[in-house]
Amino acid sequence: MSVASHLRIRVTEYDRKIHTFIPYYREMLSVAAGALQPRLTSPLIVDLGTGTGALAKLYLEAVPAGRLIGLDTDSEMLAVAAQRLRATQRPGVELKKKSFTRGALPRANYITAAFSLHHIKTRGLKVRLYQRCMEALHADGAMVSVDCMPPSHPDLHASTMQAWIRHLEGHYSSRDANDHLSAWAKEDRYFPLDQEVEMLRSVGFKVEIVWRRESFAVLRATKPRHP
Ligand SMILES: C[S@@+](CC[C@H](N)C(=O)[O-])C[C@H]1O[C@@H](n2cnc3c(N)ncnc32)[C@H](O)[C@@H]1O
Repeated sequence: MSVASHLRIRVTEYDRKIHTFIPYYREMLSVAAGALQPRLTSPLIVDLGTGTGALAKLYLEAVPAGRLIGLDTDSEMLAVAAQRLRATQRPGVELKKKSFTRGALPRANYITAAFSLHHIKTRGLKVRLYQRCMEALHADGAMVSVDCMPPSHPDLHASTMQAWIRHLEGHYSSRDANDHLSAWAKEDRYFPLDQEVEMLRSVGFKVEIVWRRESFAVLRATKPRHP
């Protein structure tokens, strides 16, 4: 499904609207960019579901000699990303129309993903993706993931979802806010944070929770130098 029909917006509105849909969006992206802390001067970063390139641009700013490959299946989103990243005039930036769930991932020092992995619906497929990320990363490389990863306890889960609705109600009518969240919940799968950590550890990553608030989190999963 295209991003436009999933979010019920035009792609040209994405950058203006995404922070109305997702609380702390800009804060999380900037935390994710800061979480790379590269040791190499010219690391290769692969951004899964790069969308309009918001996070990719922050990475390029945070890592001045970094190279980047952005993968996405949505041509319209990639067209916006191409325009945004062209403006940075950085060499070593490549955008590819490709699914991150199919075929080998490019060898990388860092793999990043913001609000794209909730499109993976089953635990089996997600663990398989994390395994492929582990295989694609060089030793000491890391994956940074930003997404909705709610608490697993039902009471906390309910209160954090209420907080998300209140955020939406700051921008939309109560009915639209509830409609948005229930439409996304049908199409997306938000694994609880503890399950995300467990899935990443199950394939050998060392996981740090870099940032967490309500239903949202930024994780850094490092591939150990010596497994
Ligand atoms: C909500 S957008 C997030 C975009 C961007 N990372 C951001 O933070 O604004 C999710 C993106 O993931 C892409 N996507 C979803 N499933 C994908 C897949 N299997 N392979 C590649 N891209 C995918 C969508 O096309 C979309 O551009």
